[in-house]
Amino acid sequence: MKLTISVIKADVGSIGGHVAPSRKLRAAVAEHIATAGKDVLLDHAISHTGDDVAILMTHTLGTGNAVIHQLAWDAFVKGTEVAKSEGLYGAGQDLLKTSFSGNVKGMGPAAAEMEIEERAAEPFLFFAADKTDPGAFNLPLYLAFADPMNTPGLLLSPKMSKGFRFVIMDVNYTEGDRVIELNAPENLYEIAALLRDPERFVVESVWSRATGEQAAVVATSRLHNIAGKYTGKDDPVMLVRAQMNFPATGEILAPFAIGHFVAGGMRGSHQMPLMPVPLLTGTSYFDGPPLVTSAGYCCHNGKLTEPVDNFAHPFWDTVRDATARKSMEMRRQGFFGAAMLPMAELEYTGIVEKLNELEPRFTVR
Ligand code: F6R
Ligand code: MG
Ligand code: MG
Repeated sequence: MKLTISVIKADVGSIGGHVAPSRKLRAAVAEHIATAGKDVLLDHAISHTGDDVAILMTHTLGTGNAVIHQLAWDAFVKGTEVAKSEGLYGAGQDLLKTSFSGNVKGMGPAAAEMEIEERAAEPFLFFAADKTDPGAFNLPLYLAFADPMNTPGLLLSPKMSKGFRFVIMDVNYTEGDRVIELNAPENLYEIAALLRDPERFVVESVWSRATGEQAAVVATSRLHNIAGKYTGKDDPVMLVRAQMNFPATGEILAPFAIGHFVAGGMRGSHQMPLMPVPLLTGTSYFDGPPLVTSAGYCCHNGKLTEPVDNFAHPFWDTVRDATARKSMEMRRQGFFGAAMLPMAELEYTGIVEKLNELEPRFTVR
């Protein structure tokens, strides 16, 4: 059957700073989806990663559908009402427009959706990251879908040996979706040349070249390009199909053991390593470290199983220890050099203002 998997997420308020949404907020979102989505959705699951609430939905209405997007938008409006009534921080933060106009794209919430031909067994992984931006998934996707050092399936499986097509978006372009399609393995160096700049070039989707099936989709929205200023980190979500013609679950998870440095953490303005954490984890040290959760699902006729918590396994404790050490190492150099993000990526204007004030005081000898 043709099935659409949609995940739409937003930060509409959290407890104790940018840490985690309240139970009541999550309940309001869940209640709206359960009642208003009853006749529209095949299934759904509500979760949170850091301060972001994600609504995972299965249905048959295709991607970018107005009914589905309205459902999620209204749920976040309900969540915002609770956030305001509880005095939560950043209430309604990601709802950048006052009225809904058919699609959450460009309105604040982020969406990752794919329409697929459901397989007899349909294992897929739902990733959500907080305190970072969509380019955080560039490296894991490159390693999982293009590097046989990470993914032996690229050598072992005849279908996977045909490689994968990467659709990469220039997220600085705001007039429309500026994308390029590149094939692995032939265009490996071109793909790497773009993906090394995760603030500008972001993997939007990955496709099997053997079968044409979609393997992955990432929410690519950059909030500062919508609002014209920083309103928070973009905190991306991603869906990745696993097994058979796609990488195995373990091949998709393996790159997250690196704890690679990403944009995010304190005031959305630092470089910090990405820490894989159990589902429903909040934020802590230095408003980070940037965190990522992974829920594994299977579905049949759109009905979801319960999730498996991929980063709850004891293996990831060692990774978390290493990532915590890496975080503290980086923090030892404070604001200096690589620790703080380049000017264009800072969430605050203080440094630009200071430089402007100092400008006339420079003299040329
Ligand atoms: C992302 C997030 C951060 C904040 C940033 C600025 O979820 O919470 O990127 O947007 O720390 O927050 P303020 O200015 O509210 O302290
Ligand atoms: Mg936040
Ligand atoms: Mg967030």
